[in-house]
This record gives sequence, C-alpha cells and structure tokens, in this order.
Amino acid sequence: MKRILIVFAMLMAARGAADEAGGSQLVVEKGCVACHGENGVAVAPSYPNLAGQWEQYLRLQLIAYRSGKRQNAVMAGFAANLTDEEIRALAAHYGD
Ligand code: HEC
Repeated sequence: MKRILIVFAMLMAARGAADEAGGSQLVVEKGCVACHGENGVAVAPSYPNLAGQWEQYLRLQLIAYRSGKRQNAVMAGFAANLTDEEIRALAAHYGD
C-alpha cells in the first residue's frame, strides 16, 4: 500500500511539473476560472480573455493589482493574498 502511495505521489509531482508548477490547479483553487475560464478564455464579455497574452505582462498586472498600483475592486481582492510563486504559476498557466 505504501509503495502504491509513493508511486501515486510521484505521478502527481510529475504532472504538476509539466503544468507550470501547478498552474491548472491554482486557477481552480484561487477562483480565477469563474471569470477567466480554465484556459484564459473568459466566460462573459465583462471579463478579459487572458489566453494568448504575454506571460510577463500577466505577471506584472497581478503584481500591480496586489500592490494597488493598478486599481480594480474585483481583481484587488483576488490578487491581494497571492505569493510571488503563485503569481508566477498563474501567469505561466494563462500566458504564452
Ligand atoms: C469575479 C471575476 C474575476 C475573478 C474571479 C478573477 N478575475 Fe481577473 N479580472 C477580472 C476583471 C473584471 C478584470 C479587468 C479589471 C480591470 O479593468 O483592471 C480582470 C483582470 C485580470 C488581469 C489583467 C488582464 C489584462 O488584460 O490586463 C489578470 C492578469 C487577471 N485578471 C488574472 C486573474 C487571476 C490570476 C485570477 C485568480 C487569482 C483572477 N483574475 C480572478 C475579473 C475576475
């Protein structure tokens, strides 16, 4: 049983590494999918599409929302508690 668990853990780790350090899980955990969709194609016209955008641009926007340099009531809330590592993974997931 223990051996099976170890193999399972290794498989999950490999999967995470392949997906930009867990970005696809993070967008679900952090709620981004509700507006920006799983792959950055937004669910409604009031939300911007993130797919196809530069990774670097997305990362800088998230940092700006977090610091308050870019102001938006909705995104301020979602960016407020993101770590640098999470921002990197989210931008890598949605960006090109
Ligand atoms: C409730 C809906 C909603 C959720 C949930 C949400 N966003 Fe947003 N997001 C928006 C809206 C609306 C904007 C446009 C805000 C503005 O005008 O600055 C935006 C803008 C952005 C931008 C800037 C896009 C650009 O073109 O400049 C990024 C990057 C982004 N969101 C990432 C995320 C990430 C990552 C998450 C999850 C942590 C998330 N958003 C969660 C609604 C949402």
